[in-house]
Order: sequence, then structure tokens, then C-alpha cells
Amino acid sequence: MFRRFSLGMGHRAVVLIGLSLVVVQGTTVMAQDHRNATSAHGMVVSISVEASDVGAKILEQGGNAVDAAIATAFALAVTHPSAGNIGGGGFMLVHPGDGSAPTFIDYREKAPLSSTKTMFLDEQGDYVDGGSRKNHLYVGVPGTVAGMVLAHEQFGSLAWTDLVTPAVILAEDGFVLNHLAAQLNRVLERSNNDEFKRVYGKSGGDEPWLPTDRLVLPDLGRTLRRINELGLDGFYSGETADLLHEEMQRGGGYITREDLTAYEAVIREPTHGMFRGYDIYSSPPPSSGGISLTLMLNVLENFDLKASGRWSSETVHIIVETMRRAYANRAKYLGDSDFIDIPTHLTDKLYAKGLAEGIDVTRATRSEQFGPPITLVAESPETTHFSVIDSTGMAVSNTYTLENGYGAGVVVTGAGFLLNNEMGDFNKKPGLTSPRGEIGTLANQIAPEKRMLSSMTPTIVSRDGKVYLVTGSPGGRTIINTVLNVTLNVLEFEMNMREAVDAPRLNMQWMPDRLGFQAAEDPQYADLVDALRAMGHTVTRGGGGDANSILVEDGTFIGAADNQNGGASGASESQ
Ligand code: DON
Repeated sequence: MFRRFSLGMGHRAVVLIGLSLVVVQGTTVMAQDHRNATSAHGMVVSISVEASDVGAKILEQGGNAVDAAIATAFALAVTHPSAGNIGGGGFMLVHPGDGSAPTFIDYREKAPLSSTKTMFLDEQGDYVDGGSRKNHLYVGVPGTVAGMVLAHEQFGSLAWTDLVTPAVILAEDGFVLNHLAAQLNRVLERSNNDEFKRVYGKSGGDEPWLPTDRLVLPDLGRTLRRINELGLDGFYSGETADLLHEEMQRGGGYITREDLTAYEAVIREPTHGMFRGYDIYSSPPPSSGGISLTLMLNVLENFDLKASGRWSSETVHIIVETMRRAYANRAKYLGDSDFIDIPTHLTDKLYAKGLAEGIDVTRATRSEQFGPPITLVAESPETTHFSVIDSTGMAVSNTYTLENGYGAGVVVTGAGFLLNNEMGDFNKKPGLTSPRGEIGTLANQIAPEKRMLSSMTPTIVSRDGKVYLVTGSPGGRTIINTVLNVTLNVLEFEMNMREAVDAPRLNMQWMPDRLGFQAAEDPQYADLVDALRAMGHTVTRGGGGDANSILVEDGTFIGAADNQNGGASGASESQ
């Protein structure tokens, strides 16, 4: 039996029971909290109702968690254009749930072959595009299709076509916009890309979309058909590659057919840490997520946070000081490990103990103490994370992105898909680390075929080989802290899935030297905020994310779609 429940901005709760692609067993409608799901048989939690449905139907058809994740990813490329993609990249963590080792699939974008360290700078050392990054120059070689093909080769149990076809149908038949209407109207108004306006605009971009309108994407449908029929060759060579190459030439971008042919997704070993007896698996370089998360949990294991309570000033202070130290290490050491050596001590328990001992439990440390002042550029919360688990306990944690919302804002003419602007994640002004936003450290400087440093942190916690928690989030550099918040809420503070996702989040990323707290202006937390300020913290309203997560308790899967940012959230399950 297939169950779907989901809601958009209206926040009304609807549960449909008995609808299935394969068998229709009758229909019942009942009320249930739209953000929560429980099932013993399988679950997909993503930001999009339609994409969650696609994944859940794959589980219903007998597909495994990876099948469902691939189908969900392709569906999100249609229904969640700000971050769902085939023109970007990301990471997929697969936990078999049977005691065997988890696998990490790295399908992060790569720098084009013609890249240079200073490709974004003019002779005066200023950004050639004025720093907008919304253009062809910033497009990295896309990895998503290669990542999905690799995931299918390694783990798929259904035919490739079963996984891509639902996205083709969504693109060609269209879907009702709901909350997306207002977002698209805003983006269209700012866009100067004619093809974006033609493809995503109502009547070519002149008329505002209404929530009840249907968005049909025929060009994207045709590209997805090519991917459906030809797999890798449907994207990295032939017509799609030709269209992408031509688009790059038109807009002065760097990617060529050769770049596309050369792209490969790779299998890596996930990071592995232990926290209070739980195994923590997460994203290795080129992500900074897994190493930083492991480092933070290792530091925090030295304190009895539970005894001092989730919202005591002591607990919050220690968490924040831990974040500060982890992010300073991140900026100094992390980049693509295919190109640089990353010190192994970062995930070492002894190193963490030293950091823990350096924390003054009564006073905030000044971030400058760990290095030169660096103010990192703000990033929009435009990436997307989804979590999947199937009836055997196999789980997938997947985060992928176009970098900024709608990526470079460029649609490939005739191919209907948006391109990323991920090259912006590199350190673009070698050697220059300034309060204006540049970070010039060596580890993450540009080189041909190098992957830019990421913060995406798809994470799976397990115990005795069985999956316990599947989580991750968008949010640029805040991602790692969002994942830490959710993980601690469950493992240390014993919150249930809903409480763990809803609890106000803390974010400190070394520079700027500022503590973002989602509840900073909530009177309920006023005493805490006062106490933190008295300890020397600059507290502002901040933090964020979209941590669509699953917890497994006594064999039951408990899903929580994150709704903190007011976006439409959906969770689906099959049973
Ligand atoms: O890979 C990264 O860490 C970023 N490109 C993710 C971007 C993101 O989450 C959206 N903006 N914050």
C-alpha cells in the first residue's frame, strides 16, 4: 500500500492511502500532521511533494533506497528548480544497513580543463564580472547525471528507465506551481537571461505566474528523455553536450565537449567518527562537512552537555566555541584531497581533546586568535537535501546543489536545464584573505579538474550496522552546523525527530565572529541570550537550513520534513 502525505505553503494536512503506480488498492483520506510520517516499510523526505511521491512510488514498486533516491533527484530537477538539478552536482551517502560498509558517491562539479588560479581576476586583481557570479564564467562541469549513473551501477535494482521516466512525465505533463509561483516571479523579474525567461516565464516571461498555474518544461523533458535512453551519453556527449558547449560559447564560459567527456563521478570512503557509541558517517573531501562534523563531535564528547541541559548558557557556549575552532581548521586545511594533502589529525580524538581543553567555559574566545580576520561572503540557502530509507533498512542521504538559487541563472538554450555557478566555491584571490570576503588560502585554490570545497554534509548515524538517523541540509557554510545541531539533539539530548529538526539552531563559523541563533529574538530564550552576551558572544538572529531527516526507532521510520524556512515540505512513505 502506498501512502502519501505532504503539504505546500497552505499547511493543510492530507494523507492519501492506497494509491500506487502499480496497484490501486482503494483510497482513503485522513488528517495527519503534514510534516511527520511514520512507517515500517520505507520513506522519502524531501522539500518537494511531487519528488517525494516519485521516490515513494519507486519504493512501492520494489525499488531500493538508491533507486528511490535517483528517481527523487531527477524529479527534484523538475519540481525544485532553485536547487534540484541535472546541471549541478552533489554527494550521495549510501548505508546498506546490513552491517556492510557505507559508500560515498562524489558527483561534485569540477573546474574546466582551461581553468587557472586567477581566472576570475582582471589585471588589477578585481573580479572580471564585478563579483556577481550569476553568469557563464562560473559554471563548473556538472556531475549530477554521472553521479546518478554511478549510484545506479553500484546499487540500482530497478531499470534505469524506471527511475528517469517519472521526471520525464513531470517535465512534459507539468505540475502545479503552488508556492513556486511567487518565487519564480521574483527570480524572473531579476533575470537577464533570455532563455531562462523563455523556459520558466509564463508566456515568455511577461505575465506573473499564479499558484494554480501549471509549469510545463518540454525542453527539459527532451533532455531527460536522452538521459533515459542513453545514460551518461545522453548528457556528456551527443545533443545535450553540443547544446551545453554552444551555450558556453555564446556566454563566454569555459566548459567544452572535452570537459564533459572527461567528467567522472567517483566513489570515496565516507568519513567515520564515533560519538557516544554511535557510528557517524558523512562526506569526505572535497566536502569540508564530514571532517568538521567529526571534529566537532569529538570535541563535544569531552563535555557532559546533557547534564547541563540543552539550553543552558554553558552548553550553548561550549557548542559555539567548538564550532569556532572547527571552522578555523576548515578554512586552513580543507580542499579537494585529489590535489592537496589533508592532515589526518583533524579527526583524531586526541587533537579534539586538546581543543576541548583550550575552551574557556566562562568566556568567548575571539576568532582572530585562530588566524587572520576573514569575513566569508553570505550564501543563499539554495541547495537541497533529501533522506530515504527502504524496507530492508538501506538508507540514502543526498545533498546536491546549483550553488546559488537557480545557479548561474543560465538555462542551456534548447536543453531546458539550469547551470550551476559552483566555481564560486573556490578561493578565487590567491593569497588574499580580507575582511571584505576573500579567502585566499592554498588548499582551495583553482586548478584544472579540481573540485571546489563544499560544505554539504549528507550524514548517516548507525549503531551495530543498523541505520539510526539520516540527515543533512542546505545552507552553504551553515550546513555543517545544522547537521551538528540535529545530530546532537538526537544523540545527546534525546529529542524525538520532530523536536530535533524544529529546535532553534546555532551557527558560528569562525569568521565573522558572530553567533547566529534562530531564537535570538524569542522572549523565551532572552535569559540565555543575555548570559551568552555577558560571556562575550555577539549574538544575532541566524542559522537556518532544511534538514529533511529520518530517525529509526524500534524498527519504525520516523520522518520529519523541515519547514523552518517556510518552504513547501513533503514526506512520503510506502508501506
Ligand atoms: O557546496 C557547497 O557547500 C555550497 N555550494 C552549497 C551552497 C548552498 O548550500 C546554497 N547556499 N548557501
